[in-house]
Amino acid sequence: MCGIIGCVTRDRDTVPILLEGLRRVEYRGYDSAGIAVVDGDGLDIRKAEGKIDRLQALIDERPISGPTGIAHTRWATHGEPSEQNAHPHLDGSGRIALVHNGIVENYRSIRRTLEAKGHVFTSETDTEVLAHLIQEHYEGNLEAAVRAALAGVQGAYGIAVICADEPEKLVGARNGSPLVVGIGKDANYVASDVAALVRHTRDVVYLDDLEMVVATPDGFSTTTLENELITKNVEKVTWNIDMIEKNGFPHFMLKEIFEQERTVMDAVRGRLISAAGDAILGGLREHRRAFQKSERIIILACGTSWHAGLIGEYMLEDLARVSVEVEYASEFRYRNPVINPGDIAIVISQSGETIDTLAAMAEAQRRGAVALGIVNVVGSTIARQSDGGVYTHAGLEIGVASTKAFTSQLMVLAAVALMLGRSHDISVTRGRQIVRAMEAIPGQIAEILGRHESIREIASRYAKDTNFLYLGRGYNFPVALEGALKLKEISYIHAEGYPAAEMKHGPIALIDERMPVVVIAPQDAFYEKILSNMQEVKARGGRIIAITSEGDDQVEKMADDVIEIPRTLPHLTPILSVVPLQLLAYHIAVKRGCHVDQPRNLAKSVTVE
Ligand code: AGP
Repeated sequence: MCGIIGCVTRDRDTVPILLEGLRRVEYRGYDSAGIAVVDGDGLDIRKAEGKIDRLQALIDERPISGPTGIAHTRWATHGEPSEQNAHPHLDGSGRIALVHNGIVENYRSIRRTLEAKGHVFTSETDTEVLAHLIQEHYEGNLEAAVRAALAGVQGAYGIAVICADEPEKLVGARNGSPLVVGIGKDANYVASDVAALVRHTRDVVYLDDLEMVVATPDGFSTTTLENELITKNVEKVTWNIDMIEKNGFPHFMLKEIFEQERTVMDAVRGRLISAAGDAILGGLREHRRAFQKSERIIILACGTSWHAGLIGEYMLEDLARVSVEVEYASEFRYRNPVINPGDIAIVISQSGETIDTLAAMAEAQRRGAVALGIVNVVGSTIARQSDGGVYTHAGLEIGVASTKAFTSQLMVLAAVALMLGRSHDISVTRGRQIVRAMEAIPGQIAEILGRHESIREIASRYAKDTNFLYLGRGYNFPVALEGALKLKEISYIHAEGYPAAEMKHGPIALIDERMPVVVIAPQDAFYEKILSNMQEVKARGGRIIAITSEGDDQVEKMADDVIEIPRTLPHLTPILSVVPLQLLAYHIAVKRGCHVDQPRNLAKSVTVE
């Protein structure tokens, strides 16, 4: 997901503001960066492949400055990462500059039409076509030209545009890719992410699809693409800049793993009712009746959020006795799913911007389902386009590999399962037991984090391995999938999660002394069976890293390395058993010299297909 920031002032130099804003959205992943400013009578532009430091060096060498500007970090879709393909892109006159997040689906036909009119393109990108299309419509009013150009565009975009002939104007527009307006004192801003603005203002306006903003040093106006004036709510950003800082941790990912001791409670703070053994989720209150009447819940998500959905399925069927199906959002959106009256779609997303999840939610709503989001980013598109939902309150998650958002999703899912279960057949006594167990989770996570050094030491012995198998049963099968994903995405080691019982149906052929096998083996209902699975691995020379319950004395006889976790209720175990796997993946990746917070090829939020 690309990063965008734009700023319009009367007489300040926007270059430092724009560069600082780009650094705040670095975490989203990118491969090139650029900046354009209006300076006096023209536009000045600097672009560089690679990290922002290279752009900074370019500007140090050849300084630019100006009161109005735009900047961009690019995650390549059309055209390789290169200076030429980096944004901002200029129109043919060199007087209009544009940055873009998204994909222009019909850029080829537009490009052919413009080339036939004499336009010459210098990049392989779809974005450059937008700049030339605006030029084609420009007759002295930038927002009118942008509006006319976008009328012919198909696809997703979040754009910011400036023009040398209108130096005190910054135009933004969105369809499918997030764009937020920042309201300052003597400056106004446009950005793809609040993180780029929060040092300058906490007052923001979230644009919705097919909306535009015209910002000047003195204010802003918002309209539809059809130029109908609209009034938008100004919202207050609640988190602060130090939440973005690493606070002494070497990487955001490690900071966020350690934050889980607090964030798991933030997810349910004020939502657990001890005396009644119940949970109250304001965002679902009006849907409680719908839940009670519903015969099926469909969970839509991608990646780590999809793993949370699998655990949610087990929780909801176990505690609330409602039928649940978990779907990859990317598959659901394109097949011809059956949605029955009364079906409820629970849509899980950290960013609230994942294009596949957004589209799957829209498809479910189109067919009559009520869509309820479990989302982390406040004001995100999924949060705003769902029929209701619950924020996970994990705070800004900057590491591309999701950690604290995942455990917060699980806490919210446990609260939903408790709420629904209590209106089904969970007694107040059992409800109180569940609430107590949930309230104990933060301290139990702290105990696991206290074993951080021993986990680092274990990781160092496996950092050179090239292929891992993760095994789990029941609630811990999805944790095996999540542990494998963590390792894959930050250390680039191939890893596969599997239901432990399935191992003998194929993967056991992989087992030999070169294959580390991570086994999640708490003392739960599957304990004896997972011990047998461990025997099968050992008999073939496999090396075992076991996650087991504190005080266990059987697993350690079979495992090469053991990481203990506290005991809790079966459906809450994943919240604990995932933490050692997060730390294991983190330390292996660090040992391998990988870029932990911004792994290659990955973005924090996948807003393009
Ligand atoms: C998780 O570590 C990955 N970065 C990725 O799988 C992520 O979970 C997925 O892209 C879904 O993102 P979302 O939760 O923001 O929708």
